Amino acid sequence: MAANIDLKSISSVTEVLKNWTYLPYLQYFSGREQCAEAYLAQYKEITEDCLDDKGALLAVTKGNWFAGLRRIAGESESLNLKMARLEPLIFNETSFDIATIAQGAKFLREVLDRASDIQHVAAPVSSADTFSQLVLQECGFKLADTIVCHHIDLEKMADSPANKYVRQATPADVEAVAKIAERSFSDRRLSLNRFLCDPHFDAALVGKMYAKWTTAAILNNDCDANMVFDDGKIAGFYTFRLPHHRGADAKIGLAMAVLSAVDPDQARKGVFGSLQQAGCQWLKENGAKIVEVKTVLPNKPVNRVCQKMNSNVVFTYHTFHWARQA
Ligand SMILES: CC(C)(COP(=O)(O)OP(=O)(O)OC[C@H]1O[C@@H](n2cnc3c(N)ncnc32)[C@H](O)[C@@H]1OP(=O)(O)O)[C@@H](O)C(=O)NCCC(=O)NCCS
Repeated sequence: MAANIDLKSISSVTEVLKNWTYLPYLQYFSGREQCAEAYLAQYKEITEDCLDDKGALLAVTKGNWFAGLRRIAGESESLNLKMARLEPLIFNETSFDIATIAQGAKFLREVLDRASDIQHVAAPVSSADTFSQLVLQECGFKLADTIVCHHIDLEKMADSPANKYVRQATPADVEAVAKIAERSFSDRRLSLNRFLCDPHFDAALVGKMYAKWTTAAILNNDCDANMVFDDGKIAGFYTFRLPHHRGADAKIGLAMAVLSAVDPDQARKGVFGSLQQAGCQWLKENGAKIVEVKTVLPNKPVNRVCQKMNSNVVFTYHTFHWARQA
């Protein structure tokens, strides 16, 4: 391991990110430095000793290993569990052996000790980063899900005519949309979202959280576009965000497909496909260049629609979960 990283120096943190093998979105930047700077810009603050609820990243280093821990305030409140996200986790594997993996796990335990009130941690790691995956497992993390990240290039996407059943949501749609969200996201048979694959979460609370989230998306304009499929009755919804003003997405015109669900009674009739097509068209008309759609590996309809829209799978990652033993 090299000398310790100086966390007080932003250039020192940029340096460690710059050398991260799994630095996301690198293909869109002219160099690693620019990409690392954009990645870092998503965090309002990097701190060494405080995990606040305003989004600061608690950074812990050992040699050139780096772990960032961020409290997830809103979801913690909704799900009655104090949660954090471990990201980025940078080991940049130096030696693939059992002793080094054990050292990595010791380092991670120290990171978790820094936030002793945290009860649950989610850690996303590239599917290619098998070293970090072994370290996480050694430390007691368990595999929760595998995410596929699609990018749809809007500049190459052919314009599509308006679909007469798809429109922007209005406050009058809130009840129907929230009902679909609550039903879809509280039932493991309908959705394998990141909470329902972990028995530490209460499925009914998860459904209520998504219902509340969709309500806020429509009423408070938390998202830039909230599309509904309405053929006399709301059959599904899809929310989208234009490129954020911070971080990598602002630099590369990356918009996000945020949340979608279709009434289970209206499934397999092309509702989701129509919503995604209309949403992408709207994002294109509003200046976005790329749309990111993330879904769990077994979600056949979402992966299928993305493939039909000529998406590129730009990365895949596994999310590991850890829960503090009482
Ligand atoms: C995922 C979901 C939105 C799909 O909605 P949908 O309206 O049924 O999907 P579509 O009818 O547009 O189907 C899209 C494609 O997937 C195929 N498909 C749909 N369901 C499928 C299934 N269970 N297995 C295999 N293929 C399936 C369709 O045939 C279609 O392909 P085609 O155009 O080649 O015929 C819906 O099932 C849902 O709400 N699930 C729970 C919430 C969720 O997972 N949201 C997405 C989070 S990323």
